[in-house]
Amino acid sequence: MNEHSELEGEPRSRLIHDKWEPGPDQPFRIPPVISLPHISSSSASSARVAQPRTEGYKNIKTMSAAQSAASTPSYSTPYSNIEHVFEDPEHEHYYSDTPPPGSMASQTDHLLIYPRQFVLPTGQAFTTLSKLKSSGYKNVWEPMDGDERFWQIHSEPKIAIGQRAILVKTPKGNVLWDCITLLDEETIEWINSLGGLAAIVISHPHYYTTHLEWADAFDCPVYLSWEDKQWLNRLDRLGKARTFIEGTEEDIEVRGEKIGVKIVKLGGHFPGSLVCLAFGRLLIADTLVTTPSGMGDWTKGPDGGKWGRPSGMNTYSFFWSIPNMIPLSAEEIAGMWKILKDYEFSSTHGAFKGTEVSDGAKGSDTTVKQRVLESMQIQVKRMGWRDHAFLQETM
Ligand SMILES: [Fe+2]
Repeated sequence: MNEHSELEGEPRSRLIHDKWEPGPDQPFRIPPVISLPHISSSSASSARVAQPRTEGYKNIKTMSAAQSAASTPSYSTPYSNIEHVFEDPEHEHYYSDTPPPGSMASQTDHLLIYPRQFVLPTGQAFTTLSKLKSSGYKNVWEPMDGDERFWQIHSEPKIAIGQRAILVKTPKGNVLWDCITLLDEETIEWINSLGGLAAIVISHPHYYTTHLEWADAFDCPVYLSWEDKQWLNRLDRLGKARTFIEGTEEDIEVRGEKIGVKIVKLGGHFPGSLVCLAFGRLLIADTLVTTPSGMGDWTKGPDGGKWGRPSGMNTYSFFWSIPNMIPLSAEEIAGMWKILKDYEFSSTHGAFKGTEVSDGAKGSDTTVKQRVLESMQIQVKRMGWRDHAFLQETM
């Protein structure tokens, strides 16, 4: 595809730094906190500076028309001022790795009173990074899908939903796709032995966790979606780690050079949900949820003989809330495809170990991209649509 093509008249690549910029001699240093001049939302510049936190952000938050179509409809909560709550400097206590004080509990309410969220049957539970490190938790890493350009990292025992992060190795710098909570000395030492990190990119809010500690440990920026900013619940005390992706596509660059890692914003699950494309592999987190049918091996028949994947099966589902199984709408799914269809990939890799799907693998004779479209159309049809324009989409 043409990397410089435009969508709906909007440039695909737009960054807002919060503000991290490499100097010529110190490519990955996070500079000390400084005041930055405000640049108006009408600026045509591709990289723009956010306002000081205390002034709010709403006047420079924009989305392309396509992205607006793909984004989650706004959900009304009694808390109209979420951004201000979560950018409040009082939240700096989180950086000190202490448990949230009682006052914080009331501020988590707004995260729990809308239908995306859930609590365990045993109720809410909080922990801290230092508690995890002193309780025997360890990170484990191994090549993903046998490819040593991709290293999957997860924690044992399982923490929270047990997602993996994936380190993408490139000759010009490594990128960590998504984030896990536990960051210990062994992990830092191992990643440094691979050349450290040039950037961290996080698909959506519930993997934000300790991203500030990761950014600090590896002196690198963290790329997040501008649309999901309201879910940040910690002050970036160093002030310069976060870089917000405002457009629908971003090539990660190191020292001004593209490194072959492209970030694409599909929206849907969260307004700014991302996927990452590197070496033909699409890292999908749970922007696309890989289904059991998609992961299954269909090569064996009931009698042990050779078999094949039947047509009409899904490989992915598309959820607004995964734990509560609330699906995305037809319009949101169509909006995701409208963006994704321009990209080529031969495999997908979800949020959890083992969620690998490859072209023609495990009894399938179709491409992964075809399976994405089929899955989207299956879901739209099952929601009752019979004549939706999206059902006419073909590869
Ligand atoms: Fe998710």
